[in-house]
Amino acid sequence: MISIEGVSKSFGPNKAVETISFQANDREILVLLGTSGCGKTTTLKMINRLIEPDSGTICIDGKNIRDQKPEALRKTIGFVMQHAGLFPHYTVEQNIATVPNLLNWEKQKIRKRTSELLEKLHLNENILGLYPYELSGGQQQRVGVARALMTNTPLLLMDEPFGALDTITKSAIHNEFKNLDELKNKTTILVTHDIVEAFELGHRICLMDKGQIVQIGSPREFLYHPVNSFVKEFFASNRLMLEYKIASVKTVEPFLKMSLSLKGQKELNKSANLWEALQIFSGEQSFNEDYEILVQAFNQYRKLQSV
Ligand SMILES: Nc1ncnc2c1ncn2[C@@H]1O[C@H](COP(=O)(O)OP(=O)(O)O)[C@@H](O)[C@H]1O
Ligand SMILES: [Mg+2]
Repeated sequence: MISIEGVSKSFGPNKAVETISFQANDREILVLLGTSGCGKTTTLKMINRLIEPDSGTICIDGKNIRDQKPEALRKTIGFVMQHAGLFPHYTVEQNIATVPNLLNWEKQKIRKRTSELLEKLHLNENILGLYPYELSGGQQQRVGVARALMTNTPLLLMDEPFGALDTITKSAIHNEFKNLDELKNKTTILVTHDIVEAFELGHRICLMDKGQIVQIGSPREFLYHPVNSFVKEFFASNRLMLEYKIASVKTVEPFLKMSLSLKGQKELNKSANLWEALQIFSGEQSFNEDYEILVQAFNQYRKLQSV
């Protein structure tokens, strides 16, 4: 567990982070969400001591990180930098092997682990000899993720890891990423300014504004129990889609007025949330009726949630 208590950091007169406190629990993905300049990267970098706070305490599993040497601390933390942060003069293979080399892993162990991660992240082995500039933005970011996962650290910090991807590719990667077995035993803090990404990946979200935390909670709490008008407005433009995304098919089942067609039921079982279900149903005319039944059920359910 990562615990941040009353942490502040200024750069000259500029208060980048102001007395923030939050925890990231074991096995969860906690998303730091906020617009550019609100202090997300500064917060993340204080956790692996790339930046030292002016005041406050950061503990990992109850131990103050100030009591550890930065180098020792960083061996326990996988870090994905904003814009992938690959070394330009190293090949992909050398980039991925950076930390294992520091830990004196045997060559064969490095090769085996590299292959394993390339496969999980859908990267082709033939990129290993290339330099970062020869890769697409999306490939660079996946190599950045592979590098951070290499030594299977208990903690993972990711700074806008999918920022270079277009929206469609992003959604597919989110699904894969969330289900990656590598994450199951980790505490992950992921930084993003992308609201949809926060909802698709975060077990909990920590919303920041001007160096402060506005609200921490589950995606559901942000939509149905916003603490103030700032939070409400922050999610206003994507609201309906987000509501569909956090409603599972099970959630609205009690509100179905009629049963769906057999074909519809089958399709529905394949989709994780209502948004996906409606995407499937809206694509084909034979699903028109199912689509309507589902939307009506959702509207009934929704009436009971509003704040
Ligand atoms: N090394 C630095 N020197 C001076 N100002 C900085 C430095 N790093 C960040 N800042 C400032 O601190 C604030 C927060 O920055 P940052 O944590 O990078 O925000 P975010 O990652 O949310 O975009 C911004 O106003 C930024 O300009
Ligand atoms: Mg940043």
